Amino acid sequence: MDPVRVQQLVKAIEGKDLSTAAHTWRVVLYTLAMAEEAGVAAERMQELTHAAALHDVGKLDTPREILTKPGRLTGEEFEVIQQHPVSGFARMVAMDVEDPLVLDLVRFHHERWDGKGYPYGYAGEEIPAAARYFAVVDTFDAMTSHRPYRHEVGEDAAERAIEEIKRGAGTHHAPEAVEMFAELYRKGRLTWILHYFNDGDDVPEFSHAEEADRVFRRRRRRV
Ligand SMILES: [Fe+2]
Repeated sequence: MDPVRVQQLVKAIEGKDLSTAAHTWRVVLYTLAMAEEAGVAAERMQELTHAAALHDVGKLDTPREILTKPGRLTGEEFEVIQQHPVSGFARMVAMDVEDPLVLDLVRFHHERWDGKGYPYGYAGEEIPAAARYFAVVDTFDAMTSHRPYRHEVGEDAAERAIEEIKRGAGTHHAPEAVEMFAELYRKGRLTWILHYFNDGDDVPEFSHAEEADRVFRRRRRRV
C-alpha cells in the first residue's frame, strides 16, 4: 500500500472518530509484538502494520454524530456503526488491496469467538486469525488508553483489562489469542507500549510501516 495514502487515511480516521495518533501507534505496536511472538514472517509485517493502523477505516463512512455521540446509542445507530467493517473492506478493495491479512483484519475485527460479534456473526476459526488476534489488542487498548472523551484510567487499568480479557476467553475472544497476549503482558513485554504516548505528550503522526518497525525494534531490545 502507498505509505502516503496510508498516512492520509490514518489521520482522517483519527479526526473522525475522536481517536488519537497514540491509539494508532499502540495498536500497531501491540500487533507487531503479537505477530513476532506468533512467528509471522518479517515480509508480512508491513502489511500487518497497515492493517492495524487502518482497522477502522470504515468509520470514514459512519456519520460523525453517531461516532461521537455521548451516552448510549439507539439500536438503529448501533446498526449503522456495525457496518464499519463492511465499508472498510469495500474501501480496501476499491484501493486494490489484495493482501488477505489487511482485508481480513479490517473486515472481521469485531467478530467474536462465540459468534455474537458483528457484522457477520462468524464463530471460532471461521474468523481469520489476523482478526482474532487483533480483537484482543483493540479491546485492551480501548480499556487502557486515555481518550479525549474519557476520564483518566486508573493505574491498575491494565491489570483489570487483562483479567477482563481473560474472562472473555472462549466467549468474546479466541483462547489462544488471549493466552498469547496475557503471557506477553505477564513477561513485561508490553509495558513500554502501554505507556507509549499514554501520558498526554505530543504524538507524531503515524507515518509508515518502516518507521513503526524501527520504533518496535529499537524499544523491544530494551525489554
Ligand atoms: Fe472497529
